[in-house]
Amino acid sequence: MDRLAADRFTDMVVNATSSKADPRTRQLIESGIRHLHAFILETGLTLDELVSICGLLVQAGKISSDARNEFLLSANILGLEVLVDMISPNGGPQTAILGPMYQPAAPRLPLGGSIIQGDADGQVTYMEGYVRDASGHPIADATLDVWQAGTDGLYDIQDPAQSGTNLRGLFTTDANGHYAFKCLRPTAYPIPDDGIGGVLLQALHRHPMRPAHLHLIVGAEGKRSIISQLYDRDCPYIDNDSIFAVKDTLVLTFEPATGRADAELYVRYDWTLQDA
Ligand code: BEZ
Ligand code: FE
Repeated sequence: MDRLAADRFTDMVVNATSSKADPRTRQLIESGIRHLHAFILETGLTLDELVSICGLLVQAGKISSDARNEFLLSANILGLEVLVDMISPNGGPQTAILGPMYQPAAPRLPLGGSIIQGDADGQVTYMEGYVRDASGHPIADATLDVWQAGTDGLYDIQDPAQSGTNLRGLFTTDANGHYAFKCLRPTAYPIPDDGIGGVLLQALHRHPMRPAHLHLIVGAEGKRSIISQLYDRDCPYIDNDSIFAVKDTLVLTFEPATGRADAELYVRYDWTLQDA
């Protein structure tokens, strides 16, 4: 292969971009072109392989919908969203990836309310804690948007058997920055593996399991929101997440909820929000 000619070709493609293009778009696409060209040179990609990668992207598009983002799922399997969180100025010890199962419009619930709609199939957990600013002062009216999968490992949007907003809730802290809600002890579940994500996992001989977790977005006026996930220390997948998202600072111990009639387990976690 004439390496010099290939490099000149890459420059030619990059230089075809008009200077009128939006600068950030231009930076992203030009860098993408350089890395993809380098990938082809490094691997000696064949035409059959290129066509088959494009075919996978077509299938990912076909399987995607408002409730299913097969591209973000595949990005997660390849560690892309975790890396974006790692380098983000908004990232920190309490942040984690959003994942494809977030839905805005969770029902507003009172302090101590439950995100479980209908009969609980699982261990009801009482979770509480405080939201504070960087100086340790409580933040009143901070919001916590919470969502989790059912004990069958499915989120409401994946599961016609669950009501529209099951296992989702929006809570607000009181004047002391205190929040509390009831949820299920989270269950480990497989990420959807009946589409392109599954093809990738199978090709790499990897399992689809995510360790048991609860998702949250914690925010307040004038503060940077934290997108997060909290994990169950006792889950067998805690050190083996299919999307590499677990951080030690987000791993919790679920304890017996002694003295509570409305919950079997208890867990506590405090949040610190930085100024926006
Ligand atoms: C989730 O935790 O909801 C999730 C993350 C990545 C892929 C699929 C699901
Ligand atoms: Fe999840």
